[in-house]
Amino acid sequence: DDPAKLTERSPVVTIMGHVDHGKTSLLDVIRKTRITEIEAGGITQHIGAYNVSTDNGQITFLDTPGHEAFTSMRARGAKVTDLVVLVVAADDGVMPQTVEAINHSKAAGVPIIVAVNKIDKANADTDRVVRELSEQGLVPEDWGGDTIFVKVSAKQNQGIDNLLEMILLQSEVLELKANADKLAKGYVVESKLDSGRGSVATVLVQEGTLHAGNSVVCGIHHGKIRAMLNDRGVQVESAGPSIPVEVIGLSGVPNAGDELIAVSDDKSAKQVSVHRVQK
Ligand code: GTP
Ligand code: NA
Ligand code: MG
Repeated sequence: DDPAKLTERSPVVTIMGHVDHGKTSLLDVIRKTRITEIEAGGITQHIGAYNVSTDNGQITFLDTPGHEAFTSMRARGAKVTDLVVLVVAADDGVMPQTVEAINHSKAAGVPIIVAVNKIDKANADTDRVVRELSEQGLVPEDWGGDTIFVKVSAKQNQGIDNLLEMILLQSEVLELKANADKLAKGYVVESKLDSGRGSVATVLVQEGTLHAGNSVVCGIHHGKIRAMLNDRGVQVESAGPSIPVEVIGLSGVPNAGDELIAVSDDKSAKQVSVHRVQK
């Protein structure tokens, strides 16, 4: 890409951690405090990716289904996420899936921010979490390392602003950029067959801009985008880098982790997808 065409994009963050350490609760509280309060009617639908606005910038979060995409895309050598927020419950400490998440992130070369959650609990032991994570190579600054640790309580909505601030601070260092001015490329975070709308795929755009009406190839499927909805269920005409959208109009249901590319016309979309089916 021509460096002159690169513009800033918001970070894509995946939340990982051991079972019941509070990943969904954390996402919920971020979503509620950052979106519901400005959206009349709130949000009820489930979505696998969403974008939040803070005073210092926007952040795109991948919910648990994002893990599948993370794993399957990594297997193909693609980079799905810019940052991982590792959630560790202060009353439970480092557990097997905590270590797994650390290994995944390291293998993908993705920086980790630690969210020590459930600090409201009587038996919370933050020092133990710090000690155990340091043994895994995640050492906080006051212990001589460079990993950011943030203490939070998803339940009591504590430390959330600080966490969002740290995410944006860390992503500034990464200087995240993309060319928004070309045919879009992205990947499927999740997908389903909807009885009314047919194939529905949540796509995270990585580069370029996806437009309603675009011809696309997605996994072994193709199609013309009939409609696009943003993460609040509102119809939109376009989506740029780091923005998740629901795409309607594909010939079939793609898999999480499948790539979506926009092509110049319908005919090439069909040709590419036929070629992929034959392969
Ligand atoms: P899985 O998706 O099943 O792996 O779990 P998760 O990591 O998404 O955890 P989840 O958000 O479902 O939370 C698990 C339990 O911990 C729930 O009962 C939450 O209410 C509770 N919980 C989450 N965050 C906090 C917190 O900050 N403090 C306290 N006290 N409880 C919490
Ligand atoms: Na749970
Ligand atoms: Mg969960």
